[in-house]
Amino acid sequence: MTESSDLSDLRLTKMPLNNGSGYMPALGFGTLIADAAVTKTATRGALEAGFRHFDCAERYRNEREVGEALQVGLAAAGIAREDIFVTTKLWNTNHRPERVEPAFEASLDRLRLRYLDLYLIHTPFAFQPGDEQDPRDQTGNVLYDDGVTLLDTWRAMESLVDGGRCRAIGLSDISLNELLPIFEAARIKPAVVQVESHPYLPETELLRFCKEKGVVFLAFAPLGHGMRPGPLEDPVISAIATQVGKTPAQVLLAWAVQRGTALLTTPRSADRAKENFNISALPEDAFDEINRIQTRQRFNAVVKTGSPGFIPQGR
Ligand SMILES: NC(=O)c1ccc[n+]([C@@H]2O[C@H](COP(=O)([O-])OP(=O)(O)OC[C@H]3O[C@@H](n4cnc5c(N)ncnc54)[C@H](OP(=O)(O)O)[C@@H]3O)[C@@H](O)[C@H]2O)c1
Repeated sequence: MTESSDLSDLRLTKMPLNNGSGYMPALGFGTLIADAAVTKTATRGALEAGFRHFDCAERYRNEREVGEALQVGLAAAGIAREDIFVTTKLWNTNHRPERVEPAFEASLDRLRLRYLDLYLIHTPFAFQPGDEQDPRDQTGNVLYDDGVTLLDTWRAMESLVDGGRCRAIGLSDISLNELLPIFEAARIKPAVVQVESHPYLPETELLRFCKEKGVVFLAFAPLGHGMRPGPLEDPVISAIATQVGKTPAQVLLAWAVQRGTALLTTPRSADRAKENFNISALPEDAFDEINRIQTRQRFNAVVKTGSPGFIPQGR
């Protein structure tokens, strides 16, 4: 297996984790899928296409389906648990330290796993604790919890690593300014930061910090959440796709790995899973041309409130 510095085969690129617990495959499959049956078929399709990194979340309410698909898929293909990398995330309503371990155990149970490769704090926003994942007052405003700090939650995450069933911890939907104090105070440094990133939102400063500190920068929405207009239809991306004989999605995913990030993509069909896995390095001039795109757009507003922009209705 190659590491991120070796781009000879982008599909096999692996990112070293700063705590020495191993590597994260750069190409990750995201499980934010509304339909339970599609969650299962898409997860199997991703495994069969070659994905070995799976990103889940308590909030997606489909950890059971992902767990079942992985168990069946691994057995069918003769793949060992150690050969895949599984992440899930602590939801905003579980930030109180005494809620962290029970939430972690519940996720493990639903995923049918004995350990997690990575556990992330889903957003830096603490919501009112309880079973309601989207607590609101009568006028529809989110009910936040000011009785817990992000550092309190981080300390409980560190204890999970001490416990041995969680190999690495990190944060998601966090800005560099919010990350810095946690990074400074942390006994166990964040291994991964998961944020929206694509050519319209390169997050260059955060990426630079992550590279300096050996933190894996994990990009979600590398295709701009598939929104159109968006990076998938950008004229520079389309022209490069034609030039190199790849699809716009493959160009965007290759660019993300070539700039030293890991990524998450959510192909829902087996064909798209093969397409999104089958990427190869772009010529240097094409890579540079993408870096020069000036359009700036954030597609997911979760960073502003902690309320997910893309959780399907009813979940
Ligand atoms: N931390 C957070 O707050 C957060 C937020 C959002 C997402 N995530 C994670 O990131 C993962 C990735 O989500 P994403 O929305 O960013 O995934 P994505 O793969 O960038 O975008 C998914 C969209 O792109 C389309 N698509 C996928 N492959 C395509 C292709 N080859 N050609 C054209 N369109 C294609 C999909 O269409 P179809 O559905 O029609 O296939 C879908 O509409 C999620 O599953 C989740 O794990 C995390």
